[in-house]
Order: sequence, then C-alpha cells, then structure tokens
Amino acid sequence: MSTFQLPTRFGPFGGCYAPETLMANLVELEAAFVAAGEDPAFEARFAQLLGEFAGRPTPLFEARRLSEELGVELWLKREDLLHTGAHKLNNAIGQALLAQRMGKTRILAETGAGQHGVATATVCALLGLECVVYMGALDVERQRPNVERMRLLGARVVPVESGQRTLKDAVNEAMRAWVGDPEAHYLLGSALGPHPFPTIVGSCHEVIGAEAKAQWRARAGGVPDAVVACVGGGSNAIGLFRKFVPDAEVELVGVEAGGLGDGPGQHAARWVGGREGILHGCRTLVLADDDGQVEGTHSISAGLDYPAVGPEHAHLAATGRATYERASDDEALEGFRLLACMEGILPALESSHALGWVVRERERLAGRRVLIGLSGRGDKDLASVLPRLGHGGEA
Ligand SMILES: Cc1ncc(COP(=O)(O)O)c(C=O)c1O
Repeated sequence: MSTFQLPTRFGPFGGCYAPETLMANLVELEAAFVAAGEDPAFEARFAQLLGEFAGRPTPLFEARRLSEELGVELWLKREDLLHTGAHKLNNAIGQALLAQRMGKTRILAETGAGQHGVATATVCALLGLECVVYMGALDVERQRPNVERMRLLGARVVPVESGQRTLKDAVNEAMRAWVGDPEAHYLLGSALGPHPFPTIVGSCHEVIGAEAKAQWRARAGGVPDAVVACVGGGSNAIGLFRKFVPDAEVELVGVEAGGLGDGPGQHAARWVGGREGILHGCRTLVLADDDGQVEGTHSISAGLDYPAVGPEHAHLAATGRATYERASDDEALEGFRLLACMEGILPALESSHALGWVVRERERLAGRRVLIGLSGRGDKDLASVLPRLGHGGEA
C-alpha cells in the first residue's frame, strides 16, 4: 500500500523517507503534478515559458576544433545558452507553475553553485512569487556573482553556517524551513530528495534529451555512441539520459567530482566509497562512514559538491545501464581551458568535469561520436578558475 499514485522507487532506490509533517505537502505536490500532466493548458504554458522566456530549444553544437584535437567527434548540448546560464531553469519554471497551481505564494529553495537559486529567483520575479534561497556560507563566498544576482532579482539569500557550509547543509536548512512553513513550496533543485521530487525534477528536464535526440538525428544521423554528463544530484544528466535509456547501443556515462583524490573528504564521488543509505528523504548511494554518518566532500565545483546522488542514477548504475566515472579538479580545469581556447565557450566548472573525463579518456573514445551535456556557463566560476589557470592579478 502506498499513499502515492506514482511509483516512488527506481528499483530499490528512492522512496519517501520524510517527516510526517511534510507528508501532506508531498502528497499534494504529487497530486498537482499528476493533474498538471493531464491538463493541456498547463503543458502549453510550460512549453510557452520554456520557449519564449527561457530560450528553448538550446542548440546542439559540433565542437569541430576540439574534436580534431582529441580525435573524438564531440557535440555539445548547449544548456549554457539557456536564460540564466544553466539547465536549472527548466525545473524552476516547471515547479513554480506547479506551486502556482497549488495556490502557493512563497517559494523556498536551496542552492549550491547558485545556478538553481538564480533560476528560482528569476522565475519568482516573473510570476510574482516570494523567494527565499538557502545557500552554504562557503558557496556564498565562492559564487559571489550569483548571490548578487539573486538579490537583484528580489530573493532573500540566507547563508547557512552549519556543517561544511555547502550544498548538503543548504538542503538541510531548506527542508527544516519547509517543515516550519508548510504553506510554502520547496522548489528542490536536483533529481533527489523524497518522492515525488526525483520524478518531477527529472521530467522537467526531459526536454534536454528529447531535443538533443531529435537534433542529433537531424544533424549527425542515428544516435550517439556515448552520452556524457556531469552528475551532482543528477538533474542535468537524468534529463539528458532518460530519452536514450531505451537505446541499448548508446553508452551513458555520468561524471562526478573526483576532487583531489580518493580519500575520505577529498572528493564527492559516490561510486568511490559510497554505500547505500538514506539522505534527504531518499534511499540512494551516500558517502557515509561505518556508523552511517555523512562524510565531508570536496569539489572545485560547488554544484557537484554533494554526498549523495539522485536515486534514478543509483538504479541506472545498479542495473548496468549507465556507468559513473570521476574527473578530478585538475581534469575539470583542463576541460574548462580547452573548451575556452578551442571553441570560444567558457563552461561551468560542473560541466567541465564531463569535458575533463572525455579529454582523459580520448584514446578509448577515439573515432566515436560523443554527446556532452554542457549544463551551464562558466562566468560564475571565474574567481575560482583564474588563479588556478595562472591568470590571477594581471592587468
Ligand atoms: C551548471 C551546473 N551543472 C551541473 C550542476 C549539478 O547539478 P545536477 O547534477 O542536478 O545537474 C549544477 C548545480 O548547481 C550546475 O550549476
């Protein structure tokens, strides 16, 4: 017996391990999502905003110079060109419309890199909703331009000083705030958390893979040999992967943050030392110690710096349909540098992990046709990247 209408799990992963006080909200949210899916007017409004406001469809771009350099045929799905600079806006629009449908006037959100916070603040400005964004204090420091953007858009940004002062702590705080403010909608920014969030967030982003698949067929023909995307919580990757899952010949590769090395606390790679556990309301792979305590993480990219992964990815890995690899901080920086110099595109540090992995694996991938999800643009990361690439302080 389930309280919900939709399946709450992906294989053994997912579920709804939420405090009782949130159950009414989660059930209400699922009901609104199901009803919206059957309402052509909702679908039309969502499609209209994705097109006219967000700028969809985003292009599929053939990275010719980099392809030649690496000996791998590379195509990029340009979510960096979406309004506000990352894929996060797809989900923010979808969930904000659901919130309106439920009669909510206040939105709570967490953010890591700031992209989800900016996307949420943007949609709240558009729809006239109040917006409060929880952000780890360390991320407030390393993503300063996005903090200013959120404030300009009218959002209240609440720095979170607990724990490691990063994304996990921001999610904790946003969930705590929601328990105390059930009249608000919690606009969760990745394909994680208790049911129905992984299902809803994944479905808001499915447009990425749907477009990419049609564009690939028209431009390159057939399907790619491999589809590669970075994985924090997993929203951009699941959005890109879902439409390719039935195509068994397409290799699906998620790339997580390898950080500084494989020791505890040095990375955010859940497939290196992660174990099954429950975090933020879902059963999934979690970086935790023998006692089940969540371990510290490190990544150069705030958006990948999270100790658990969305349950659908845990399932894709367990069934062997997708593999999950890691790129280190340095490999991500090399991906960033190469795309900037060879294609004139500054990628987000998160997306740079997918690029960095392809650069490292170029011999194995030689001659293959690879689609990379370029989840966001890198302007927000310049303060971290410039000193690391030897450009700090020159006039
Ligand atoms: C540009 C960009 N890419 C990727 C991510 C990682 O999130 P997800 O795994 O949900 O796509 C983030 C998160 O902030 C981001 O800003």
